[in-house]
Amino acid sequence: MLLPAQSETRADDLHRQIADAVHKHGWAEHDAFLPPELVVTLARECAALAAAGSLTRAGVGQGAARTLQPEIRGDQIQWLQAGQSDACDQYLAIMETLRVGLNRELFLGLDEYESHFAFYPPGASYKQHRDRFRDDDSRVVSVIVYLNADWLPQHGGALRLHLDDTADAMGARDILPVAGRIAMFLSADMLHEVLPATRDRLSLTGWFRRRV
Ligand code: OGA
Ligand code: MN
Repeated sequence: MLLPAQSETRADDLHRQIADAVHKHGWAEHDAFLPPELVVTLARECAALAAAGSLTRAGVGQGAARTLQPEIRGDQIQWLQAGQSDACDQYLAIMETLRVGLNRELFLGLDEYESHFAFYPPGASYKQHRDRFRDDDSRVVSVIVYLNADWLPQHGGALRLHLDDTADAMGARDILPVAGRIAMFLSADMLHEVLPATRDRLSLTGWFRRRV
């Protein structure tokens, strides 16, 4: 059992590492970001929601312009609410410490975090896009935490970050959706996509936002 002071130091180090990468490169990746037991519980919760038909097909665009275009975006989602489960509350508490850590390191002025479960059935993808809406710059940092045990490269399903801002695969960085891994990037800048997978692909996707 870690003493609180020790675990706080570890969280501070982790947040500093992540913040440094976001600051230098505009993105970060870190393995074993969440405790493995929490990842298992969150994965079960997401799979149960999918099996029960409780997820909603995700749309493209915002407000009245929102449409379903499964060939562009094929995931199904459910927004997290505080109090929906102990596991979700634990997750939100961890993300709150990350929000505070990022603000301390980078002065980003992040006010809040919103997050949804995302479930991509086999073959589903999300074509190249940026996460910030055209007329709404409240999303500052995009964050995805992956929930998939035993994910192998041959399963596909990478998050592809187009680091050079061109559409082709040259100069892109692929991040596999491995259980416990976190990927983050600046929402306004990073062109990215989700490649199709051969198996169900589960994650928690979210955004640190500024109140506007
Ligand atoms: C998104 C997104 C990436 C991922 O939901 O906007 O780009 O790896 N997700 O799931
Ligand atoms: Mn995105």
